[in-house]
Amino acid sequence: MKLFALALGGVFLAGPLAAQAGDPEAGRALAGQCRTCHGLDGVAQIPVAPNIGGEPAPYLARQLEAFRSGARVNEMMSVVAASLSDAQIADLAAWYASHRPVASLSADPSDAPELCSACHGADGISVIEDAPNLAGENSIYTETQLKAFRSGRRESEVMGPIAAELSDADIRAVSDWYAATTLEIVSP
Ligand code: HEC
Ligand code: HEC
Repeated sequence: MKLFALALGGVFLAGPLAAQAGDPEAGRALAGQCRTCHGLDGVAQIPVAPNIGGEPAPYLARQLEAFRSGARVNEMMSVVAASLSDAQIADLAAWYASHRPVASLSADPSDAPELCSACHGADGISVIEDAPNLAGENSIYTETQLKAFRSGRRESEVMGPIAAELSDADIRAVSDWYAATTLEIVSP
């Protein structure tokens, strides 16, 4: 399992990383449009929205681009992203990425799902560039994303094949593991 994950990681890291550097202060001003759902600091305000503070900027930018292009669909985010320019996406990504995620795990880290922790960390703070943090994410959100990767509704070269191997019970277990971590998002 571990070797499989590392091989995929290698493929992923060799892929194109088209990230434009954004201006965090300009992003902070734009984040007023995001605050009802993600907070100004990226702490989720509604159960269906994820925490986005402290996520890697290239990951955030790629998700906003995917919502804008229609490659990733969500009734709220598709509307929000439709009107964002490339520069605004870069600025918003820079703002939210400028926060620092701090996770505290109360469970024994050696019980962490090994297939996931190779990239997302035992405590849900990602250990490879470009993978999102899962710490403290509501389990409903994580389950929805894993099922979307499994069905192909959300596309990812890395997560598609991994999710394809997971049963509903596996999905529930890994989502609960990461939901049990406490996440604090520290402002810059
Ligand atoms: C009305 C609520 C709402 C607003 C406003 C909103 N979002 Fe979201 N956002 C969501 C929801 C719900 C999701 C989860 C979508 C899904 O399930 O795929 C999400 C997902 C995201 C993601 C993907 C995160 C991940 O971990 O994959 C990013 C990035 C994001 N939003 C950024 C923003 C930014 C930047 C703004 C402001 C310009 C914004 N959102 C405004 C509700 C909102
Ligand atoms: C080889 C590295 C790797 C492994 C192993 C891996 N992931 Fe991922 N994961 C990623 C990357 C990269 C993304 C970003 C995909 C994208 O761009 O949409 C991601 C995205 C996700 C997301 C979406 C998060 C969000 O905020 O929307 C979830 C949930 C997730 N992974 C869960 C898991 C679980 C659970 C496991 C173990 C069963 C796992 N991953 C194993 C690299 C990995």
